[in-house]
Amino acid sequence: MLDWLAPQAGERILDLGCGDGALTERLVAAGAEVTGTDFSPDMVAGARARGLDARVLDGHALDYDAAFDAVFSNAALHWMTRPDAVIAGVARALRPGGRFVAEFGGQGNVAAIRTALSAVIERLTGRVDAPGDIWYFPSCAEHRGRLEAGGFAVDRIVLIPRPTPIPSDMAGWLETLAAPILTSVPEDLRARVRDEAAALLRPVLCDSDGNWTADYMRIRFEAHYAG
Ligand code: BEZ
Repeated sequence: MLDWLAPQAGERILDLGCGDGALTERLVAAGAEVTGTDFSPDMVAGARARGLDARVLDGHALDYDAAFDAVFSNAALHWMTRPDAVIAGVARALRPGGRFVAEFGGQGNVAAIRTALSAVIERLTGRVDAPGDIWYFPSCAEHRGRLEAGGFAVDRIVLIPRPTPIPSDMAGWLETLAAPILTSVPEDLRARVRDEAAALLRPVLCDSDGNWTADYMRIRFEAHYAG
């Protein structure tokens, strides 16, 4: 991903959804002047503890004006469920010709996990809404269309399967990363939803040694603001 961005010394770069700054640090090491933003105060505190310039900011409400040569984002855009607002803010933040390089969850991301959660929630509560609605996981065609409508020219965009080992187990993954879905069901059912979804997933996402793998799909793109 950093190869796609190819940060240059002296460039002004916004790291959108910088988390605790682990990747932001690498942009700084390349000589760029980097600002990180994240919605989570804890993450911003972590980034500042690394000595980085970081601000708490909602990615839907970026308030920069032609301030950056590039906007970079890793594993964050799928949490921003109003993508057109994000793209408009990134366009405003870039100088004309500036680039937008990002990677995040794409179409089919955690598909098995979402299907298992939907099935168990429907069985236990009768609710039939799609729990994946808390994330934005677009196809390349959808995301390209949104970027182009926002004034970007898309240089390249790909969807990449990224099966990813889970250090703990599926129950732990669900508790952490699917917390908004678990908390959307009545409290007395949450542990059952978690455990029954994990049991459904065991045959497809857990190997014979007990190692779990999440079925991640990543969309990666490079675009430039055509103005
Ligand atoms: C991810 O693809 O990084 C992701 C997917 C679902 C929940 C959290 C993270």
